[in-house]
Amino acid sequence: MAKKKTLIAYFSCSGRTKARAGEIQGLVQGDLVEIKPKKAYSKEDLNWKDKESRSSLEMANPKSRPEVQALEEKIKDYDRLLIGFPIWWGVAPHAILSFLDQEDLGQVEVYPFASSGASPIEPAVENLKGMYGDKVNIKEGRLFNTEVTKEDLEGWLE
Ligand SMILES: Cc1cc2nc3c(=O)[nH]c(=O)nc-3n(C[C@H](O)[C@H](O)[C@H](O)COP(=O)(O)O)c2cc1C
Repeated sequence: MAKKKTLIAYFSCSGRTKARAGEIQGLVQGDLVEIKPKKAYSKEDLNWKDKESRSSLEMANPKSRPEVQALEEKIKDYDRLLIGFPIWWGVAPHAILSFLDQEDLGQVEVYPFASSGASPIEPAVENLKGMYGDKVNIKEGRLFNTEVTKEDLEGWLE
């Protein structure tokens, strides 16, 4: 069976990365799925000013892997995976690490994208490459803090 082209999987708590993922889907005609934590993040969980909040504790612990639901889609059926997340503390939320630990990605090309308050995506991608580079085919990432255009995708994916 011929491979389907693109799977877009995103993790998003306040909806910005979700919006970017939807725009990307409209442009590349891929399948869109959400990376869902088994326990949703509350507003308190996301308070980065509170050192004891769930997100602060998770991000301060390199071993934390908040559980995420397994995808029904088989990633290996696709040519490429576009994986979206918000930048947390300069890097990808640990839910993304749980996802990469859990899913079988084979040699699918993985293109990270993110939204952030201001931080760039490059350190987050370098961090992912450092952890998963020997088993996951991680490509260049893109930060999308405003609406995604066709030109943005051409410069990134082609
Ligand atoms: C726990 C936490 C940590 C964050 N850390 C950063 C950061 O280091 N740099 C940054 O620019 N934005 C940071 N942000 C802001 C988010 O990256 C930004 O609001 C993002 O667009 C949220 O995406 P979402 O709506 O898909 O969840 C942080 C937000 C949260 C909740």
